[in-house]
Amino acid sequence: MVISVDPEWWKTLFDEVYLLTDARSVCDAAVTGKEVDLVLALIPLLPHHRLLDLCGGHGRHVLELCSRGLEHCVLVDYSRVLVRRAKMESLSRRLPLSCLVADARRTGLLSRSFDRILIMGNSLGYLRDSEADLEILRECHRLLRSEGRLLVDLADGESVKKRFNPEAWHEIGEDILVCRRREMHERSVSVRELVVSKRKGLIRDRSYSIRFYEKKSAEKLLAGAGFEQIEITTDFSPHVEAGDHGFMDCRMIVVGRKP
Ligand SMILES: C[S@@+](CC[C@H](N)C(=O)[O-])C[C@H]1O[C@@H](n2cnc3c(N)ncnc32)[C@H](O)[C@@H]1O
Repeated sequence: MVISVDPEWWKTLFDEVYLLTDARSVCDAAVTGKEVDLVLALIPLLPHHRLLDLCGGHGRHVLELCSRGLEHCVLVDYSRVLVRRAKMESLSRRLPLSCLVADARRTGLLSRSFDRILIMGNSLGYLRDSEADLEILRECHRLLRSEGRLLVDLADGESVKKRFNPEAWHEIGEDILVCRRREMHERSVSVRELVVSKRKGLIRDRSYSIRFYEKKSAEKLLAGAGFEQIEITTDFSPHVEAGDHGFMDCRMIVVGRKP
């Protein structure tokens, strides 16, 4: 059966239930710590650098970077629920973080106001129109100062295809069961996700679709947005335990510089 996907799925999927279904990747401090270690190994980040975490979700990377001494950090995400979580966390930990709910294609922020931009956790490829990812990267180019760096953390499409698993399920704690059925297309994967609470019954039945990049297409995307000195690191996974972590197991980190 073909999985039918609402093209606007990305506007509403990222909420409290997402923080449960993806907890093994996005609510694990050790996983986030490893990802931040890799970011720091790939691009120099100094305390005075102005950093934007674009599509930053509930702020796990930017909050970790604030706690490691970054002084000028901004988080942008479309999800009001996740941005609110990030703001609350920054206030309770007294970390200096500005938060904004906006579409990454048009943030409304000032041109050339950042030294570094991160797009972490496989946050591209959601909009059906393939031009949309280019629009997001053009916005990054506009927001960066000359010689600023962009780092994009994506699922590696080649590995996703090789390791494709049409069905997967995992449990979260005593109560939650997450079941996923997947369909592979030429450049994307559609997923139907059922989330069941053993106590309350079905709490989510949603579908989504993600377009994938391989090394060549990722390089072309950054170059098309005006970036140069593009470098790609593959085979990164922050997970140690075995299991199907969706698309978060085989990652490709792409770094580019604004001329
Ligand atoms: C898989 S989550 C990753 C979040 C975060 N980077 C992390 O690694 O925890 C993808 C995020 O991208 C955000 N997002 C996707 N498309 C967006 C857009 N066009 N504008 C703003 N945020 C977007 C979603 O709201 C979601 O929070």
